[in-house]
Amino acid sequence: MSELKIFTTVAETVAYAKEQKAAGRTIGLCPTMGALHEGHMTLMRAARSACDVVIASVFVNPVQFGPNEDYDKYPRQFDADCEKLAAEGVDAVFHPSPEEMYPAGYGTYITVENGITDVLCGARRPGHFRGVATVVTKLMNITRADKAFFGQKDAQQVAVVRRFVADLNLPVEVCMVPICREASGLARSSRNSYMSAEEKQAAVVLSRSLKAAKAAYEAGERDAEALKRITREELATEPLAKVDYVDLYTYPALQETTTVTEQSLLAIAVFIGKTRLIDNIILGEQA
Ligand code: PAF
Repeated sequence: MSELKIFTTVAETVAYAKEQKAAGRTIGLCPTMGALHEGHMTLMRAARSACDVVIASVFVNPVQFGPNEDYDKYPRQFDADCEKLAAEGVDAVFHPSPEEMYPAGYGTYITVENGITDVLCGARRPGHFRGVATVVTKLMNITRADKAFFGQKDAQQVAVVRRFVADLNLPVEVCMVPICREASGLARSSRNSYMSAEEKQAAVVLSRSLKAAKAAYEAGERDAEALKRITREELATEPLAKVDYVDLYTYPALQETTTVTEQSLLAIAVFIGKTRLIDNIILGEQA
């Protein structure tokens, strides 16, 4: 196994990517903000099995955080991240500074304006997807990626990325990897580290509520309001849980629907104490 290469500049990453392309190798990009956990490793493995070269990025992107969000306290543990990436056989990691990505005079941002960023997390976190779309576009260009890997936990993010990749004719295949859960059902997230043991226990209610809705769907329930109500009722059983949203939209178009007749996303955002967690399930067949 070759050693993990660590790049901090755009120039050295571009040079490496061009070299790989010249040798006829395909490149898989796994964009992350670090604090890597098993969920990220499922992205690395998917990339490893689909591409000749795997490049991970570790960058806490300031542009996707709102003024009162957790940019400063977001966990940063680059050395531990590198150990995990090396153990997974990742070829290179791009770990730029904010100044490297957004130098003085920087002035270009990507916004998706067809409505899909106006719902769910986009409605609660103004500017978030503008920041995501901008940094992901830059990362795809810098790494010359053929495929890019994202987790389903951020299903809206995947829909947004697929939209701008198609709209801007970027030569990248966007691959969605299933949600990785702890044995308890809790979706793995770097933000889980903010929670106490008691809060982590309480947070299991998120996956439990989605499971209840899925069981109802599988028993024949197709009414969107009923599926949302079942989800909310289960969430209400946990006193530490404060619901931010429980919503159901078609997926990936994220259009409102009263009945689940095509592939749809049941998505939730819930505060457990001060920690905001998201989770989702995809119901139904692709249209
Ligand atoms: O999902 C994330 O961790 C981030 O939004 C991403 C895709 C790495 C962009 O900063």
